[in-house]
Amino acid sequence: VDHITTPLPLKGKRALVTAGPTHEAIDPVRFIGNHSSGKMGYAIAARLEQLGADVTLVSGPTALKIPHHVTAVAVQSAAQMFDACKAVFQQADIIVMSAAVADYTPTEVADQKIKKKTEDFSIALKKTTDILARLGKEKREDQTLVGFALETNNELEHAIDKLQRKNLDLIVLNSMQDSGAGFAADTNKVTMINRAGDIQTYDLKSKEDVAKDICTRIIDHQAAL
Ligand code: CTP
Ligand code: CA
Repeated sequence: VDHITTPLPLKGKRALVTAGPTHEAIDPVRFIGNHSSGKMGYAIAARLEQLGADVTLVSGPTALKIPHHVTAVAVQSAAQMFDACKAVFQQADIIVMSAAVADYTPTEVADQKIKKKTEDFSIALKKTTDILARLGKEKREDQTLVGFALETNNELEHAIDKLQRKNLDLIVLNSMQDSGAGFAADTNKVTMINRAGDIQTYDLKSKEDVAKDICTRIIDHQAAL
């Protein structure tokens, strides 16, 4: 049967995967969030586990079930996600950051529900820590660091810039151009770019199959170390 004959190329490896959105609190009943479903990250975590890796999944709020034999750490905010990632990064051989982390968070959280008053209202925001960029700074040669990019224009140029700026081994560009790809969908169409500048475009496929493609690239990178 399958589970006996399947080779486990990632046995003994540890993986850290982030997934889902983050929720940045405004007051006790409100937050700033986004439409990330977490499906892509959960599929990657499940696939890495199937390939033999010891997987920690740091997840923002999603409606998904934790994949079997995966260690889950539930977080809400970008700051909590950063803390959870820092705690496991050093021990991880493979790091895949598929979460849709908020870029900005309220400068302060009201401790009571904000009442409506004035006609106009605005909330002051400050930048969150770019978790991926921070981990990229600390990355060792034996680690494989994978990031994602969501772009609507000049896709390749922006993705290559992120790959270099954040010191990644591989970047997965989500194509917004193609229907059936993106946040809530069960399918995705990606282009992967590695450090050597190798650009590969993949067909539209299920997120499980995209996860397989990403993991194949990760195995290749680990094997070349
Ligand atoms: N990312 C992160 N921490 C953040 C913001 C982004 O770890 N605070 C990671 C995401 O998980 C993803 C990658 O960075 O792997 C790219 O995210 P994206 O939103 O496409 O890029 P940004 O660098 O945030 O730039 P922008 O949103 O301005 O395009
Ligand atoms: Ca962003």
